[in-house]
Amino acid sequence: MSVIFKRQSIRRFTDEKVSDELIENLLKAGMQAPSAGNQQAWEFIVVSDEKDKLEISKMHQFAKPAEKASHLIITLGNLDECKFDMMIEQDLGACNENILLQATHEGLGAVWLGFYPIEDRSLKLKEYLNIPDNCIPFSVICVGYPAHESNVKLRYDESKVHFDRY
Ligand SMILES: Cc1cc2nc3c(=O)[nH]c(=O)nc-3n(C[C@H](O)[C@H](O)[C@H](O)COP(=O)(O)O)c2cc1C
Repeated sequence: MSVIFKRQSIRRFTDEKVSDELIENLLKAGMQAPSAGNQQAWEFIVVSDEKDKLEISKMHQFAKPAEKASHLIITLGNLDECKFDMMIEQDLGACNENILLQATHEGLGAVWLGFYPIEDRSLKLKEYLNIPDNCIPFSVICVGYPAHESNVKLRYDESKVHFDRY
């Protein structure tokens, strides 16, 4: 089975820090994603400072996993770099998923925290991290060593599949 079937959101982490090399592997995976017209208009902020992680964990009610993660990878879309700006959210979705899958491959745990397009969440992140106006603060990915087992359930549901016509 590929890592796709092993990936699960991990929200609790051990105290062990993830190496710079592994973080770079996650960024490489993110930047390997497909994008509209190959525009690759993503940028990243890597956060490891304890106070910053704590502050980000308080930005919304489901952001708590950020506090104890080893690193946070904030994914951004730079609108000035876009050829097709209406596609940037889809590009970033693919980029985020690549990071989550690479984390699974490396034996790490990760969870995607949703920020964009919820305005008050995005604004808090933007202000706190000095993100410029031309960049969409898309999401926060928490990364660390898992402090709990995965329990992946297969979701294949043939009732959702249509052949030839709906
Ligand atoms: C767009 C998006 C936003 C999400 N936001 C959060 C979040 O804010 N906090 C969180 O703990 N999990 C968040 N998740 C993770 C989902 O809750 C999780 O993927 C879903 O429950 C399925 O579980 P799994 O990832 O273990 O397969 C988000 C996932 C996506 C794709």
